[in-house]
Amino acid sequence: RKMRSEVACRVDIDGLNAPFLAIYESLIPAEEEKAKQKQLLTLLENIVSKEWPEARLDLYGSCANSFGFSKSDIDVCLRIADANVKKSQVLLKLADLLQSANLQNVQALTRARVPIVKLMDPATGISCDICINNVLAVVNTKLLQDYAHIDVRLRQLAFIVKHWAKTRGVNEPYQGTLSSYAYVLMCIHFLQQRRSAILPCLQGMEATYSVTVDNVECAYFDQVENLIGFGSHNREGIAKLVWAFFSYWAYCHDYADDVISIRTGTVLSKRTKDWTRRIGNDRHLICIEDPFETSHDLGRVVDKFSINVLREEFERAAEIMQYVPNPCAKLFEPY
Ligand code: CTP
Ligand code: MG
Repeated sequence: RKMRSEVACRVDIDGLNAPFLAIYESLIPAEEEKAKQKQLLTLLENIVSKEWPEARLDLYGSCANSFGFSKSDIDVCLRIADANVKKSQVLLKLADLLQSANLQNVQALTRARVPIVKLMDPATGISCDICINNVLAVVNTKLLQDYAHIDVRLRQLAFIVKHWAKTRGVNEPYQGTLSSYAYVLMCIHFLQQRRSAILPCLQGMEATYSVTVDNVECAYFDQVENLIGFGSHNREGIAKLVWAFFSYWAYCHDYADDVISIRTGTVLSKRTKDWTRRIGNDRHLICIEDPFETSHDLGRVVDKFSINVLREEFERAAEIMQYVPNPCAKLFEPY
């Protein structure tokens, strides 16, 4: 495959803003869903505080980073100081408490990569995963949410990309494609890199928020109210951005050498990260640096088969955006 720089976009692209915005709006959760999530969190806080008065619960993931669709499950992190107690014991105890409180389908998955308790709340119908002390996820959730405040086009683009990835079957990290978290990082990077930038690099600015979690220093400028309008010199609409996003990943990204990095707001080389060869199961065929755990490549789940699936899907999407008269139906066609 040859790489090329961005080619001319179809002339009628802005005429496609309306259908993309309609899809985006149809996926936004209603206020009453948010209220039900809050209700479930309060219920869980009451249950947990009886056993562990010092513990706290935080929402993380799509229910808290503003990239969640309507009818999503919620992800909760239980923070508990008890360093002596094994996570699996806490999870089993927690599962007991939840069961006694009449929550349903309670299941402790103590051997999973991220051990969790699953449950379903019959009062709200919401399902929930609870993990323990995954504080970096809580912090990266805040970073994503802060980016979303700066320019609404990030939320629009990420919704369209996530919706595309789910309908096309390429949002399956356990099967070698990318997580939703990875797709949102790709969107942030892309908007940082537009010729007239739509997003700043918050970790490159003077830190107004700083925490150290698991020996990782997480610091960035979080007073994002002061950055609203940052990207207003760039007037590109959602359809143009969707087109350019897919054509970037189809034709412009250098898969052999490049690492995308929202931490630096630039592209790094695989050599500087020492991500040039396979180590264990990490193949680094598409490289997406985690903003805080910088040794973590979100693309490491991608293998030599799924990289082709992904690249073919990017090319398919780019071609549809370039040539198909009404691209939405075809773009989101189930695979
Ligand atoms: N996460 C992470 N590292 C990963 C994957 C996920 O830290 N490799 C954390 C992030 O905080 C992310 C959360 O786990 O926000 C949930 O990840 P994921 O399920 O990929 O994203 P959601 O935003 O919950 O997407 P979806 O709507 O598809 O559930
Ligand atoms: Mg999730």
